[in-house]
Amino acid sequence: MIVLGIFAFGMNPGACLLRDGELVAFGEEERFTRLKGSHGVFPGRAAVSCLVQAGINLGDVDRIAFAWDASKYPYRMLGTIGRQFLKYRGKVGAPSGAKSQRRGKAKNANALSVLLNLLKFTPRRLLEEIRLALRATGYRGELPPIEFVPHHLSHAYSAYYTSPFDEALVLTLDGSGEDTCTQITHGEGDDLRGLSTTPIPHSLGWYYAAFTAYMGFLPYRHEGKLMALAGLGHARAADNPWPERLRNLLSTDGDSYTVDPTFTRFGSHSHAERFTDKLVEFITGYDSSLRPLGPMHAADHGRLLQPAYVDLAWGVQRRLEEVVGDLARSALREHPTPNICLAGGVALNCKMNGSLLGLNGVERVFAFPASNDAGSSIGAAMVVAHRGGDRIKRALTNAHLGPEFSDGAVRDVLRFSKVPFSEPPDIVEATVTRLARGEAVGWFQGRMELGPRALGARSILADPRRTDASERLNREVKAREIWRPFCPSILSGHEDELVGGATNADFMTVALPVREQSLAAMEQCRHADGTTRPQVVREEVHPRYHALLRRFEGETGTPFLINTSFNVSGEPIVCTPAEALRSFYSCGLDALAIGSFLVEK
Ligand SMILES: [Fe+2]
Repeated sequence: MIVLGIFAFGMNPGACLLRDGELVAFGEEERFTRLKGSHGVFPGRAAVSCLVQAGINLGDVDRIAFAWDASKYPYRMLGTIGRQFLKYRGKVGAPSGAKSQRRGKAKNANALSVLLNLLKFTPRRLLEEIRLALRATGYRGELPPIEFVPHHLSHAYSAYYTSPFDEALVLTLDGSGEDTCTQITHGEGDDLRGLSTTPIPHSLGWYYAAFTAYMGFLPYRHEGKLMALAGLGHARAADNPWPERLRNLLSTDGDSYTVDPTFTRFGSHSHAERFTDKLVEFITGYDSSLRPLGPMHAADHGRLLQPAYVDLAWGVQRRLEEVVGDLARSALREHPTPNICLAGGVALNCKMNGSLLGLNGVERVFAFPASNDAGSSIGAAMVVAHRGGDRIKRALTNAHLGPEFSDGAVRDVLRFSKVPFSEPPDIVEATVTRLARGEAVGWFQGRMELGPRALGARSILADPRRTDASERLNREVKAREIWRPFCPSILSGHEDELVGGATNADFMTVALPVREQSLAAMEQCRHADGTTRPQVVREEVHPRYHALLRRFEGETGTPFLINTSFNVSGEPIVCTPAEALRSFYSCGLDALAIGSFLVEK
């Protein structure tokens, strides 16, 4: 059976193609539109890219799986939202005076937009939108049947059925999927059974997004910056009062949790959509200097976020880890297993993922590398293929599932651009030479990788032995906050000497502790808290990248490189050779190894 998986009309739309249960292609729409996140669009370009990679057209597809269950709209959703509103409206407090009139209008507008949103996702309307969008790709034949799949079930399938485990607890942690924010399932063999769900508004994604916005970052985009900032608070962790204080907002009874939505959703919003004035009063009540920050340039964040904001960030992260730890611990009591799988936007938090390895009895954590909503398209396709009788349980070993470009195609782009380039006898050796003399190199090789982490197909690489490597990459190449850490690609076979618990560390999704003896050597590719998010590079997955690491180790004695995504600030990771050239010439990269060719400044 051929299934086209789709997630659309939300943040990070994406598409994938499953053939006889095997994932053969995947793409995020942002890589094709070149708009980060590509919020609200249909992944038509990504879908076409998947079909082209598989050498088929839409007429060859048996089913389309859509990772959102429209059958819950509008009535069930209206019921859930209405009940929550009635429950919490008394807690918000009544505004007064002229301000109250403005707030009243704002609330009415807000209620209207919620209603319109519900109508937008009714089955009939959504089917019409999907069909129109598919027609817009140029296809004129009969469209395959479209099936709706619950969003969290999609996430859960993507994590469990691609994991290397025969049994696992599966946590899907999200902003929201229909009316669900968190779901816990248990996978055994070919079966996945639901254990519990947490409804809106109790969203760990919204909790984290609120503080992301509070710090002046973009919510649903820059949560990783908040996580990185939190790591800087490690040194003062013992005296940090914020986890305890944040229990008022994010509470747990050990088995389940609640997020008080009067801090995030219900109430007056004078500063940002993601948090209410009550959150500002709550935080500034403890420390009046901790005012919410507006959007700002990366360089300003470097100056402003010290140290009170760092401590708050550390508390926010710590509270998240405590609550998810409680949830997992409770589920593990009923279903003991050494394995945990994770997906959903909150599972992009590699620090939280790594913290689960500290739970009693948990030995292995697998976080799906595309745990954002684009990746839910993969789970939805798996659900439909599974129902159709396909075998879908296959451990993901190779995340290189995007477009690739032959040397001929790359040469054409280089000549067209009138860019001086060379074709060295060995591109691996030429790259190692430049890395070892301190250059930052763009590395564009093979099929684009799945998920938000670069894995050696669209990467920027640097020598981790240079003591200014991290600062230089942040300042000259990535144009991002000076305190953002980098992570390593490690030559397989060396992971255990460098980090602890490096099982399932192939996709940079789990933060692991750097071993004591390696802290100094890895200073440029670990965080201040002593953790790193490694990628173990295997020869059978990416032979040329593996050869590069092996040659670098042979020349320098260091079996790892700094690996960060090949994009400039605010843009998606590059997809095509032309985009690689554009990025190369708009930042401080020194050289570009693209296919068999070398471009130098
Ligand atoms: Fe999601």
